[in-house]
Amino acid sequence: MDIAGIRGQMPGLKHGVYLNTAGIGQSPVSVNKAVAEGYQQLRSGSVSTSDWYNAMAEAEDEVPAKIAGFFGADAGEIALTMSTGEGYGMVLGGLRWQQGDEVLITNQEHPVPLQAAQGLADREGAIVKVVEIDQDKDLFLGRLEQTITPRTRLICFSHVTTDWGTRLPAREICGLARARGILTLWDGCQAIGQFPVDLHETGCDFYATNCYKWMLSPMGTGFLYVRKDAQQVLKPLRRPHAPDGTARQYETGTPAIALYMGLGTGLDFLAGIGGPRAIAMEAGRKAESLRERFDAIPGVRVIGSRRAETRTGIVAFAVEGIEGNEVSDALRNRWQIAQRATNINEPSGVRISVAFYTSDSELDTLVEAVTALAGENGNR
Ligand SMILES: Cc1ncc(COP(=O)(O)O)c(C=O)c1O
Repeated sequence: MDIAGIRGQMPGLKHGVYLNTAGIGQSPVSVNKAVAEGYQQLRSGSVSTSDWYNAMAEAEDEVPAKIAGFFGADAGEIALTMSTGEGYGMVLGGLRWQQGDEVLITNQEHPVPLQAAQGLADREGAIVKVVEIDQDKDLFLGRLEQTITPRTRLICFSHVTTDWGTRLPAREICGLARARGILTLWDGCQAIGQFPVDLHETGCDFYATNCYKWMLSPMGTGFLYVRKDAQQVLKPLRRPHAPDGTARQYETGTPAIALYMGLGTGLDFLAGIGGPRAIAMEAGRKAESLRERFDAIPGVRVIGSRRAETRTGIVAFAVEGIEGNEVSDALRNRWQIAQRATNINEPSGVRISVAFYTSDSELDTLVEAVTALAGENGNR
Protein backbone atom coordinates (compact mmCIF):
# COMPACT_ATOMS: atom_id res chain seq x y z
CA MET A 1 0.00 0.00 0.00
CA ASP A 2 1.42 3.42 -0.98
CA ILE A 3 1.03 5.06 2.45
CA ALA A 4 2.91 8.24 1.55
CA GLY A 5 0.73 8.71 -1.56
CA ILE A 6 -2.46 8.08 0.44
CA ARG A 7 -1.38 10.48 3.19
CA GLY A 8 -0.76 13.11 0.54
CA GLN A 9 -4.48 12.98 -0.26
CA MET A 10 -5.50 13.68 3.35
CA PRO A 11 -5.09 17.33 4.31
CA GLY A 12 -6.04 16.55 7.93
CA LEU A 13 -2.80 14.61 8.39
CA LYS A 14 -0.55 17.58 7.65
CA HIS A 15 -0.37 18.84 11.24
CA GLY A 16 0.81 16.94 14.30
CA VAL A 17 0.44 13.23 14.87
CA TYR A 18 -3.02 11.86 14.11
CA LEU A 19 -4.00 8.82 16.19
CA ASN A 20 -7.73 9.43 16.66
CA THR A 21 -9.46 7.73 13.73
CA ALA A 22 -11.79 6.00 16.23
CA GLY A 23 -12.94 9.56 17.03
CA ILE A 24 -13.05 11.05 13.54
CA GLY A 25 -11.37 9.55 10.47
CA GLN A 26 -9.43 11.68 8.00
CA SER A 27 -11.28 12.05 4.70
CA PRO A 28 -9.40 12.13 1.41
CA VAL A 29 -9.77 15.27 -0.73
CA SER A 30 -12.03 13.37 -3.14
CA VAL A 31 -14.65 12.98 -0.39
CA ASN A 32 -14.38 16.61 0.72
CA LYS A 33 -14.70 17.72 -2.90
CA ALA A 34 -17.81 15.63 -3.58
CA VAL A 35 -19.59 17.22 -0.60
CA ALA A 36 -18.44 20.77 -1.36
CA GLU A 37 -19.36 20.54 -5.06
CA GLY A 38 -22.83 19.24 -4.23
CA TYR A 39 -23.67 22.23 -2.07
CA GLN A 40 -21.78 24.76 -4.21
CA GLN A 41 -23.88 23.79 -7.20
CA LEU A 42 -27.05 24.31 -5.18
CA ARG A 43 -26.02 27.74 -3.93
CA SER A 44 -24.36 29.04 -7.10
CA GLY A 45 -27.67 29.33 -8.93
CA SER A 46 -26.19 27.46 -11.91
CA VAL A 47 -29.09 24.99 -11.79
CA SER A 48 -32.61 25.33 -10.47
CA THR A 49 -33.10 24.04 -6.94
CA SER A 50 -35.57 21.42 -8.15
CA ASP A 51 -33.25 20.19 -10.91
CA TRP A 52 -30.45 20.03 -8.35
CA TYR A 53 -32.61 18.08 -5.89
CA ASN A 54 -33.80 15.61 -8.52
CA ALA A 55 -30.27 14.97 -9.77
CA MET A 56 -28.95 14.56 -6.24
CA ALA A 57 -31.84 12.28 -5.20
CA GLU A 58 -31.12 10.10 -8.22
CA ALA A 59 -27.44 9.90 -7.29
CA GLU A 60 -28.37 9.26 -3.67
CA ASP A 61 -30.51 6.29 -4.69
CA GLU A 62 -27.32 4.54 -5.77
CA VAL A 63 -25.68 4.86 -2.36
CA PRO A 64 -27.60 2.07 -0.53
CA ALA A 65 -26.61 -0.37 -3.29
CA LYS A 66 -22.99 0.68 -2.96
CA ILE A 67 -23.11 0.25 0.82
CA ALA A 68 -24.80 -3.13 0.40
CA GLY A 69 -22.10 -4.27 -2.02
CA PHE A 70 -19.39 -3.24 0.41
CA PHE A 71 -20.94 -5.06 3.37
CA GLY A 72 -22.48 -8.22 1.92
CA ALA A 73 -26.12 -7.11 2.05
CA ASP A 74 -28.88 -6.43 -0.47
CA ALA A 75 -29.63 -2.84 -1.46
CA GLY A 76 -33.17 -3.22 -0.09
CA GLU A 77 -31.78 -3.89 3.38
CA ILE A 78 -30.05 -0.50 3.77
CA ALA A 79 -31.60 2.70 5.14
CA LEU A 80 -29.55 5.90 5.04
CA THR A 81 -29.18 7.54 8.45
CA MET A 82 -27.11 10.33 9.89
CA SER A 83 -25.71 8.47 12.90
CA THR A 84 -25.53 5.29 14.91
CA GLY A 85 -27.91 6.81 17.41
CA GLU A 86 -30.50 7.42 14.71
CA GLY A 87 -30.32 3.76 13.68
CA TYR A 88 -30.72 2.66 17.29
CA GLY A 89 -33.75 4.93 17.62
CA MET A 90 -35.35 3.40 14.52
CA VAL A 91 -34.91 -0.14 15.87
CA LEU A 92 -35.71 0.37 19.54
CA GLY A 93 -38.64 2.65 18.66
CA GLY A 94 -39.95 0.45 15.84
CA LEU A 95 -40.16 -2.89 17.67
CA ARG A 96 -43.15 -3.76 19.87
CA TRP A 97 -42.26 -4.18 23.53
CA GLN A 98 -43.80 -5.69 26.61
CA GLN A 99 -43.04 -4.71 30.19
CA GLY A 100 -40.20 -6.91 31.46
CA ASP A 101 -38.69 -7.74 28.05
CA GLU A 102 -34.95 -8.08 28.53
CA VAL A 103 -32.31 -6.31 26.47
CA LEU A 104 -28.64 -7.26 26.77
CA ILE A 105 -25.80 -4.77 26.43
CA THR A 106 -22.09 -5.00 27.37
CA ASN A 107 -20.24 -3.20 30.14
CA GLN A 108 -18.23 -1.25 27.53
CA GLU A 109 -20.90 0.54 25.52
CA HIS A 110 -20.48 4.09 24.22
CA PRO A 111 -23.00 6.55 25.75
CA VAL A 112 -25.04 6.64 22.50
CA PRO A 113 -26.09 2.95 22.48
CA LEU A 114 -26.08 2.81 26.29
CA GLN A 115 -28.51 5.70 26.64
CA ALA A 116 -30.66 4.34 23.81
CA ALA A 117 -31.12 1.11 25.81
CA GLN A 118 -31.74 3.06 29.02
CA GLY A 119 -34.32 5.20 27.22
CA LEU A 120 -36.10 2.02 26.15
CA ALA A 121 -36.21 0.91 29.78
CA ASP A 122 -37.70 4.29 30.77
CA ARG A 123 -40.33 4.24 28.01
CA GLU A 124 -41.33 0.60 27.82
CA GLY A 125 -40.33 -0.94 31.14
CA ALA A 126 -37.72 -3.13 29.43
CA ILE A 127 -34.98 -4.53 31.66
CA VAL A 128 -31.41 -3.78 30.59
CA LYS A 129 -28.90 -6.48 31.56
CA VAL A 130 -25.15 -6.06 31.28
CA VAL A 131 -22.75 -8.77 30.08
CA GLU A 132 -19.11 -8.19 31.01
CA ILE A 133 -16.70 -8.34 28.10
CA ASP A 134 -13.65 -10.58 28.12
CA GLN A 135 -10.90 -10.70 25.53
CA ASP A 136 -11.31 -14.50 25.60
CA LYS A 137 -14.26 -14.92 23.26
CA ASP A 138 -15.31 -18.32 24.61
CA LEU A 139 -15.44 -16.94 28.13
CA PHE A 140 -17.59 -14.05 26.90
CA LEU A 141 -19.92 -16.37 24.97
CA GLY A 142 -20.33 -18.47 28.13
CA ARG A 143 -21.23 -15.36 30.14
CA LEU A 144 -23.71 -14.33 27.49
CA GLU A 145 -25.43 -17.72 27.49
CA GLN A 146 -25.77 -17.56 31.27
CA THR A 147 -27.43 -14.14 31.07
CA ILE A 148 -30.04 -15.17 28.50
CA THR A 149 -33.47 -16.01 29.91
CA PRO A 150 -36.83 -16.79 28.27
CA ARG A 151 -37.56 -13.01 28.53
CA THR A 152 -34.47 -12.00 26.48
CA ARG A 153 -35.78 -10.15 23.45
CA LEU A 154 -32.81 -8.29 22.00
CA ILE A 155 -29.02 -8.39 22.17
CA CYS A 156 -27.50 -5.02 21.34
CA PHE A 157 -23.73 -4.95 21.48
CA SER A 158 -20.93 -2.92 19.95
CA HIS A 159 -19.18 -4.99 17.29
CA VAL A 160 -15.95 -3.31 18.44
CA THR A 161 -15.97 -1.47 21.75
CA THR A 162 -15.27 2.23 21.71
CA ASP A 163 -12.60 2.58 24.42
CA TRP A 164 -10.57 -0.60 24.46
CA GLY A 165 -11.33 -1.70 20.90
CA THR A 166 -12.37 -5.26 21.74
CA ARG A 167 -13.93 -7.07 18.78
CA LEU A 168 -16.85 -9.27 19.74
CA PRO A 169 -17.54 -12.60 17.99
CA ALA A 170 -20.56 -11.27 16.11
CA ARG A 171 -21.23 -14.36 13.99
CA GLU A 172 -21.26 -16.73 16.97
CA ILE A 173 -23.44 -14.35 19.00
CA CYS A 174 -25.95 -13.95 16.16
CA GLY A 175 -26.11 -17.74 15.69
CA LEU A 176 -26.69 -18.26 19.38
CA ALA A 177 -29.39 -15.57 19.45
CA ARG A 178 -31.16 -16.76 16.32
CA ALA A 179 -31.39 -20.32 17.67
CA ARG A 180 -33.27 -18.90 20.66
CA GLY A 181 -35.50 -16.48 18.75
CA ILE A 182 -33.64 -13.42 20.08
CA LEU A 183 -33.10 -10.40 17.80
CA THR A 184 -29.65 -8.80 17.40
CA LEU A 185 -28.77 -5.13 16.93
CA TRP A 186 -25.12 -4.12 16.47
CA ASP A 187 -23.34 -0.82 16.82
CA GLY A 188 -20.84 -1.13 13.98
CA CYS A 189 -19.15 2.25 13.94
CA GLN A 190 -15.81 1.07 15.34
CA ALA A 191 -15.84 -2.03 13.15
CA ILE A 192 -16.68 -1.01 9.60
CA GLY A 193 -13.65 0.22 7.70
CA GLN A 194 -11.32 -1.57 10.15
CA PHE A 195 -11.83 -5.08 8.76
CA PRO A 196 -14.21 -6.83 6.33
CA VAL A 197 -17.81 -7.01 7.60
CA ASP A 198 -20.25 -9.25 5.74
CA LEU A 199 -23.71 -8.62 7.12
CA HIS A 200 -25.41 -11.69 5.63
CA GLU A 201 -22.63 -13.91 6.88
CA THR A 202 -22.74 -12.28 10.32
CA GLY A 203 -26.42 -13.20 10.52
CA CYS A 204 -27.56 -10.12 12.45
CA ASP A 205 -31.04 -8.63 12.25
CA PHE A 206 -30.02 -4.97 12.56
CA TYR A 207 -26.68 -3.17 12.18
CA ALA A 208 -26.47 0.56 12.90
CA THR A 209 -23.47 2.76 12.24
CA ASN A 210 -22.12 6.13 11.31
CA CYS A 211 -19.49 6.42 8.55
CA TYR A 212 -17.21 9.21 9.77
CA LYS A 213 -14.68 7.11 11.60
CA TRP A 214 -12.83 4.24 9.91
CA MET A 215 -14.94 4.76 6.77
CA LEU A 216 -13.35 8.23 6.34
CA SER A 217 -16.63 9.70 5.13
CA PRO A 218 -18.51 12.85 6.15
CA MET A 219 -19.91 13.38 9.60
CA GLY A 220 -23.68 13.17 9.32
CA THR A 221 -23.62 10.00 7.23
CA GLY A 222 -24.48 6.51 8.42
CA PHE A 223 -26.75 3.59 7.66
CA LEU A 224 -29.02 1.06 9.25
CA TYR A 225 -29.05 -2.50 7.92
CA VAL A 226 -32.36 -4.27 8.42
CA ARG A 227 -32.27 -7.90 7.34
CA LYS A 228 -35.02 -8.70 4.85
CA ASP A 229 -37.03 -10.94 7.19
CA ALA A 230 -36.55 -8.57 10.14
CA GLN A 231 -38.45 -5.96 8.08
CA GLN A 232 -41.57 -7.98 8.94
CA VAL A 233 -41.20 -7.15 12.64
CA LEU A 234 -39.73 -3.64 12.52
CA LYS A 235 -42.29 -0.88 12.03
CA PRO A 236 -41.24 2.47 10.55
CA LEU A 237 -41.45 5.37 13.01
CA ARG A 238 -43.61 7.32 10.58
CA ARG A 239 -45.84 6.12 7.78
CA PRO A 240 -43.58 6.00 4.69
CA HIS A 241 -44.89 8.21 1.88
CA ALA A 242 -43.83 5.75 -0.80
CA PRO A 243 -43.73 2.24 0.69
CA ASP A 244 -41.42 0.27 -1.58
CA GLY A 245 -40.80 -2.81 0.54
CA THR A 246 -37.20 -1.87 1.30
CA ALA A 247 -35.35 -0.62 4.36
CA ARG A 248 -35.67 2.92 3.02
CA GLN A 249 -39.16 2.95 4.56
CA TYR A 250 -37.39 3.51 7.90
CA GLU A 251 -35.79 6.80 6.85
CA THR A 252 -37.31 9.68 8.72
CA GLY A 253 -36.98 12.79 6.55
CA THR A 254 -35.01 14.64 3.87
CA PRO A 255 -31.38 13.63 4.26
CA ALA A 256 -28.24 15.79 4.09
CA ILE A 257 -28.10 14.74 0.50
CA ALA A 258 -24.67 16.05 -0.60
CA LEU A 259 -23.04 14.33 2.35
CA TYR A 260 -24.07 11.01 0.85
CA MET A 261 -22.22 11.93 -2.34
CA GLY A 262 -19.21 12.10 -0.05
CA LEU A 263 -20.05 8.68 1.40
CA GLY A 264 -20.31 7.15 -2.07
CA THR A 265 -16.92 8.66 -2.93
CA GLY A 266 -15.51 7.40 0.37
CA LEU A 267 -16.58 3.84 -0.47
CA ASP A 268 -14.89 4.15 -3.88
CA PHE A 269 -11.73 5.43 -2.21
CA LEU A 270 -11.54 2.52 0.24
CA ALA A 271 -12.20 0.00 -2.54
CA GLY A 272 -9.57 1.72 -4.70
CA ILE A 273 -6.77 1.33 -2.16
CA GLY A 274 -7.38 -2.41 -1.82
CA GLY A 275 -10.58 -2.73 0.21
CA PRO A 276 -11.20 -3.86 3.80
CA ARG A 277 -8.98 -6.95 3.70
CA ALA A 278 -5.86 -5.01 2.64
CA ILE A 279 -6.73 -2.21 5.08
CA ALA A 280 -7.07 -4.68 7.97
CA MET A 281 -3.71 -6.28 7.19
CA GLU A 282 -1.88 -2.97 7.02
CA ALA A 283 -3.39 -1.56 10.22
CA GLY A 284 -3.25 -4.90 12.07
CA ARG A 285 0.50 -5.22 11.51
CA LYS A 286 1.13 -1.68 12.77
CA ALA A 287 -1.14 -2.06 15.80
CA GLU A 288 0.52 -5.33 16.82
CA SER A 289 3.96 -3.77 16.58
CA LEU A 290 2.77 -0.86 18.76
CA ARG A 291 1.48 -3.26 21.43
CA GLU A 292 4.88 -4.95 21.50
CA ARG A 293 6.65 -1.61 21.80
CA PHE A 294 4.38 -0.59 24.69
CA ASP A 295 5.22 -3.90 26.42
CA ALA A 296 8.87 -2.85 26.46
CA ILE A 297 8.22 0.44 28.32
CA PRO A 298 8.43 0.10 32.13
CA GLY A 299 5.17 1.16 33.81
CA VAL A 300 3.09 0.94 30.61
CA ARG A 301 0.40 -1.68 30.17
CA VAL A 302 -1.78 -2.47 27.18
CA ILE A 303 -5.33 -2.65 28.60
CA GLY A 304 -7.21 -3.62 25.43
CA SER A 305 -7.33 -7.10 23.94
CA ARG A 306 -4.14 -9.03 23.08
CA ARG A 307 -5.85 -12.00 21.49
CA ALA A 308 -5.90 -12.33 17.71
CA GLU A 309 -9.64 -13.04 17.65
CA THR A 310 -10.67 -9.94 19.63
CA ARG A 311 -7.97 -7.30 19.07
CA THR A 312 -8.25 -4.45 16.54
CA GLY A 313 -6.46 -1.25 15.47
CA ILE A 314 -7.61 0.42 18.68
CA VAL A 315 -4.74 0.11 21.15
CA ALA A 316 -5.59 1.24 24.68
CA PHE A 317 -2.87 1.55 27.29
CA ALA A 318 -2.39 2.81 30.84
CA VAL A 319 0.64 4.37 32.52
CA GLU A 320 1.14 3.28 36.12
CA GLY A 321 0.45 6.06 38.59
CA ILE A 322 -0.98 8.56 36.05
CA GLU A 323 -4.67 9.02 35.22
CA GLY A 324 -5.61 8.49 31.58
CA ASN A 325 -6.81 12.11 31.26
CA GLU A 326 -3.43 13.42 32.38
CA VAL A 327 -1.53 11.20 29.95
CA SER A 328 -3.88 12.20 27.15
CA ASP A 329 -3.52 15.93 27.89
CA ALA A 330 0.29 15.66 27.99
CA LEU A 331 0.42 13.78 24.68
CA ARG A 332 -1.77 16.43 23.05
CA ASN A 333 -0.17 19.52 24.56
CA ARG A 334 3.49 18.55 24.61
CA TRP A 335 3.78 16.34 21.54
CA GLN A 336 0.74 17.39 19.42
CA ILE A 337 -0.54 13.81 19.35
CA ALA A 338 -4.30 13.53 18.71
CA GLN A 339 -5.85 10.64 20.71
CA ARG A 340 -8.23 10.49 23.63
CA ALA A 341 -8.53 9.24 27.20
CA THR A 342 -10.57 6.14 28.06
CA ASN A 343 -12.81 6.16 31.10
CA ILE A 344 -15.69 3.72 30.62
CA ASN A 345 -13.80 0.98 32.50
CA GLU A 346 -10.96 0.86 35.05
CA PRO A 347 -8.07 1.48 34.79
CA SER A 348 -8.36 4.78 32.95
CA GLY A 349 -5.98 5.01 30.04
CA VAL A 350 -5.50 6.37 26.55
CA ARG A 351 -6.98 5.16 23.27
CA ILE A 352 -4.68 5.10 20.27
CA SER A 353 -6.25 4.49 16.87
CA VAL A 354 -3.88 2.80 14.47
CA ALA A 355 -5.27 3.22 10.95
CA PHE A 356 -3.84 1.86 7.72
CA TYR A 357 -2.66 5.41 6.95
CA THR A 358 -0.81 5.82 10.27
CA SER A 359 2.88 6.41 9.54
CA ASP A 360 5.83 4.70 11.22
CA SER A 361 7.19 8.08 12.29
CA GLU A 362 3.88 8.93 14.02
CA LEU A 363 4.17 5.73 16.05
CA ASP A 364 7.84 6.48 16.81
CA THR A 365 6.85 9.90 18.21
CA LEU A 366 4.12 8.28 20.31
CA VAL A 367 6.45 5.65 21.75
CA GLU A 368 9.09 8.28 22.58
CA ALA A 369 6.46 10.46 24.28
CA VAL A 370 4.98 7.61 26.33
CA THR A 371 8.46 6.45 27.35
CA ALA A 372 9.31 9.98 28.53
CA LEU A 373 6.03 10.37 30.46
CA ALA A 374 6.32 7.00 32.18
CA GLY A 375 9.96 7.78 33.07
CA GLU A 376 9.09 11.21 34.50
CA ASN A 377 6.64 9.45 36.77
CA GLY A 378 9.31 7.19 38.23
CA ASN A 379 8.79 4.20 35.93
CA ARG A 380 12.31 3.52 34.66
C1 LIG B 1 -19.10 2.53 19.64
C2 LIG B 1 -19.66 3.88 19.34
N1 LIG B 1 -20.99 4.03 19.18
C3 LIG B 1 -21.54 5.22 18.86
C4 LIG B 1 -20.76 6.34 18.70
C5 LIG B 1 -21.39 7.65 18.32
O1 LIG B 1 -22.63 7.44 17.76
P1 LIG B 1 -23.30 8.47 16.74
O2 LIG B 1 -22.98 7.97 15.37
O3 LIG B 1 -24.74 8.38 17.04
O4 LIG B 1 -22.74 9.82 17.01
C6 LIG B 1 -19.38 6.25 18.87
C7 LIG B 1 -18.53 7.44 18.70
O5 LIG B 1 -17.45 7.55 19.17
C8 LIG B 1 -18.83 4.99 19.19
O6 LIG B 1 -17.51 4.84 19.36
